[in-house]
Amino acid sequence: MKIRPRRLRSTQAIRDLVSDVHLSPSALMQPIFIKEGLAAPTPIDGMYGVMQHTEDSFLEILDEAVAAGVKSVMLFAVPTRRDASGSEATNPDGILSRSVRKARAHIGDRLALVADLCLDEFTDHGHCGVLALDGSVDNDSTLEIYGEMATALAKAGADFLGASGMMDGQVGFVRGVLDDNGFTNTGILAYSAKFASGFYNPFRNAVESQLQGDRRGYQQDYRRAGESLLELELDIAEGADIVMVKPALAYLDILKSASEISSVPVAAYVVSGEYAMIEAAAAAGVLNRHAAILECLTAVRRAGANIICTYWATEIARKLKENL
Ligand code: PBG
Repeated sequence: MKIRPRRLRSTQAIRDLVSDVHLSPSALMQPIFIKEGLAAPTPIDGMYGVMQHTEDSFLEILDEAVAAGVKSVMLFAVPTRRDASGSEATNPDGILSRSVRKARAHIGDRLALVADLCLDEFTDHGHCGVLALDGSVDNDSTLEIYGEMATALAKAGADFLGASGMMDGQVGFVRGVLDDNGFTNTGILAYSAKFASGFYNPFRNAVESQLQGDRRGYQQDYRRAGESLLELELDIAEGADIVMVKPALAYLDILKSASEISSVPVAAYVVSGEYAMIEAAAAAGVLNRHAAILECLTAVRRAGANIICTYWATEIARKLKENL
């Protein structure tokens, strides 16, 4: 007898029947950029169609996400005023808190709202925390600010705070502050394994980052794999509700091991540079855009992501829903 694996590949119906990895709209999370004082939606350099939104225009993006079957959005804000300590981040009437409040009032519980919990958009030096005298990012004084920011965002109505700063102890610290202030139902989506990556550049245009230098003093070194598991275990022990691996496509191995050990849902962020690579190749006519996107997102799912944060979320969700 000859073993013939091709039998299970012979028709679309049979291939569908035996497929075991599925993308669904509900697993996709849509990032959204909202810029303070902006008059009209504005394209972002290197982000191929992703816009900076006004405080009103982003509400339509929420409606589109809901209509497509997406269940969550990740909100990033671009403030007009930046300073050394990122003080607009903790302002209860600052752009991010305001946007969360508006989003909640507009969409109710139909979307899970994740608010970015980090200082990089708010500091005039562009780092994810405040600086010590020697210019390094000061871990523990940054935690204090994250705590204040978390309280403002929780009060504004965020379901989850996206702890993306890679400070040690941030999940436990923020969890403690939230609980002490009565926000026991506000969750933490921890960017547990976040690498210092060359794939974040378009995002930095999106938030008009002021960063000089890099984040290698706090984000992970991509030459060390095992450390991600330590970060993951710490975040889960500190109370993370969801853990995240970022970037996604260049880190499928990390994602796979994270999904094997995690007792909480695992998310993966297909970041701006990964998005731009495919968009640029498609624009140059060297890739079939839709096929490449589906293949990559399915690979992220196959590697173990329960949730995929991607700039294609609403578009792909719509196509999945319509069976395109
Ligand atoms: C920083 C942050 C970054 C991204 C999300 N949050 C950039 C960075 O760490 O420099 C990147 C996301 C993307 O590239 O799509 N808080």
